[in-house]
Amino acid sequence: MAKQVKLFQSLLKHSARLQPNLKCKCTKNVIHSRSLHSGSIYEQKTSWSAVSTYDEAFRRSVETPNEFWGEAAENISWFKKWDRVLDDSNSPHTRWFVGGEMNTCYNCLDRHVEKGFGDMNAIIYDSPVTNTVQRITYTQLLREVAKLAGALSNLGVKKGDRVLIYMPMIPQAMATMLACARLGAVHSLVFGGFAAKELSTRINHAAPKVIVSASCGVEPNRIVDYKPILESAIAQSEHKPDKCIIYQRHGLEKAILDPQMDVNYHDVVSAAKPHDCVPVLATDPLYLLYTSGTTGTPKAIIRPNGGHAVVLYWSMFNSYGIKPGEVWFSGSDLGWVVGHSYICYAPLLHGNTTVLFEGKPVGTPDPGTYWRVIHDHGVAAMFTAPTALRAIRREDPKGAYMKKYFLGHFRELYLAGEHCDHETLEWARDTLQKPVIDHWWQTETGSAITCSNMGLGNNPYPPAGVAGKPVPGWNIKVLRQDMTECDVDELGIIVAKLPLPPCAMSGLYKNDEKFLSAYFKTFPGYYDSTDAGFIDKEGNIAVMSRVDDVINVAGHRLSSGALEEAMLEHPDLAEAAVVGVPDTLKGHVPLGLCVVKSGTKKHSTDIVKEVVQCVRDHIGPVAAFKQAVIVPRLPKTRSGKVARNTIASMASGKSFKVPASIEDPGVYPQLAAIFKQMGYVDLGEPEM
Ligand code: COA
Ligand code: AMP
Repeated sequence: MAKQVKLFQSLLKHSARLQPNLKCKCTKNVIHSRSLHSGSIYEQKTSWSAVSTYDEAFRRSVETPNEFWGEAAENISWFKKWDRVLDDSNSPHTRWFVGGEMNTCYNCLDRHVEKGFGDMNAIIYDSPVTNTVQRITYTQLLREVAKLAGALSNLGVKKGDRVLIYMPMIPQAMATMLACARLGAVHSLVFGGFAAKELSTRINHAAPKVIVSASCGVEPNRIVDYKPILESAIAQSEHKPDKCIIYQRHGLEKAILDPQMDVNYHDVVSAAKPHDCVPVLATDPLYLLYTSGTTGTPKAIIRPNGGHAVVLYWSMFNSYGIKPGEVWFSGSDLGWVVGHSYICYAPLLHGNTTVLFEGKPVGTPDPGTYWRVIHDHGVAAMFTAPTALRAIRREDPKGAYMKKYFLGHFRELYLAGEHCDHETLEWARDTLQKPVIDHWWQTETGSAITCSNMGLGNNPYPPAGVAGKPVPGWNIKVLRQDMTECDVDELGIIVAKLPLPPCAMSGLYKNDEKFLSAYFKTFPGYYDSTDAGFIDKEGNIAVMSRVDDVINVAGHRLSSGALEEAMLEHPDLAEAAVVGVPDTLKGHVPLGLCVVKSGTKKHSTDIVKEVVQCVRDHIGPVAAFKQAVIVPRLPKTRSGKVARNTIASMASGKSFKVPASIEDPGVYPQLAAIFKQMGYVDLGEPEM
């Protein structure tokens, strides 16, 4: 530990050299965090708002974005400096750091080792499901990544090629991401909880030259064999990779490799020579990340190398108050954007130690597991989803497990991924006696859109229900459909005035039409977040819900359309609809409505069971699709569109008005009777 502290102190000096203003900002923040720990947390509210540097940073970021992000970019090592910070001549195809050449892996690893911080831990892999704790230094990680890049190169992977990663939460998954970045190859990491069909859709679309996978994942209740899922996905995909690299996990059953297609991770890495960093343009893609949209086909977000590195580095201190050398823990999964940005890239870019946690907030082995990790590894701040806190609270309402651990060094808990309910937020603040900060994100944005911006002196205790103020670079407005601005506290659509800041997606892979129509068409000149919310009188943003057909389940985004397509794989279904209904643990869970083909003889209970299995087989267990019901028909508009919002309101117990465009309003009393029978709230007859 003493060695780590010494390294941290010298890293701070090194960072202050890189970032001329950091020293004075840091000093200010140290004062803040000290005062934060003394006395009652609630006493701090006024002093925080009094010393804000946020307003100035925000103003500069929107008035002179060139200057603002140009300065931030000085903290990144460039092989060739950019010609222009911002090129917005073809908006919304905004380009940042045009002409600049860099390498994200170099910035994450090599430069820290070259500066003498190779002995510092880059990753602490903590896996309660395999009973493992492993510390990996920057030097060790660099060695592994350079050799893995060599192995990928030996298999023909070069700059611009796609590599698909389908791996559990193990250090080799992060090493593969970084090895791709090192080569200038574009990774596409797919979450382990997806079924073969979803994986095959991504393989077909990304057309990877190589796939890197592992023998298995470990869920608390079962081992997930990855190899059969991968084989089935490749069989279903028209595109076939040249090779699959398979990592055989220690102490667990080994996968059987196909000598034609598969190579062993350990063998190819051992045999390879280390590969150097390949310079890429700032505007070249670092990764593709698939996310759910309104339709069944997922969208592949393109993340550019340069802007991503600049903003993520900047955010570690300015948004999260984290100083280089500190330990940071993001309790998410590498398969989601939060995992990409805040398990892997941001902490490494910034010279921090990142905790890679393979487990669940509860049951591995108990609801104290997050607090143990914070205690054992000296975590300064953490990021997780409200669902995780709800799960912990359910099992440990009085915080008895939390009290078993010393958390004096722990400063803040950040939440995102879904709307955080007041009760959970207040419970966490009271129990932890630390700031618990909700902030708003999307896969598209790559980093937070709103936050308490701890490094800039924002109030760490905004009222429950809001997700902080816009992060510099995000010029947020709340609009009515006619594009006029909403009043304070008035619900509307949250949009961001263009240009978007440098970390935002640069496009949708192989789907520019969708890029333009999904995000920029409804409100010209703005990015449409498809989230509804409002701005309060302090300028905080509250994010309430999606306005499209995306359901947020435990912080995971699921498309109603994709779930319906999976339901319709059942031969006896004529029609299907999926809506999100409130769930005390996961925020929302999907509910499926099935219309059975006439003449079907099968018993309805069997059909429901099979439909549930169908969704699990096609989308995967992550959909948490466990409830379905047979209905005689669906409410539809005259143009044939299923009125999902009215079904969702009805099943959630919210009152609603039947839209005039509904073809047959008589369907609602039928649905009401069915929902009542299922135990959903009885609303009586809806308003016609
Ligand atoms: N590989 C394979 N299967 C996976 C998986 C993975 N990586 N992750 C989840 N699954 C499976 C689970 O085993 C479960 O399967 P089951 O239906 O057989 O039980 C199913 O997918 C649903 O998983 P999950 O959403 O994790 O629910 P859970 O009931 O197992 O656990 C929580 C509940 C609260 C512990 C869990 O939802 C959680 O940790 N939520 C936090 C989410 C989060 O951090 N989101 C970050 C987004 S920023
Ligand atoms: P994803 O792209 O999977 O990260 O999901 C993004 C969506 O999650 C957003 O569009 C919101 O609907 C929701 N979301 C994320 N963070 C928050 C938050 N802090 N409050 C409310 N909703 C959130």
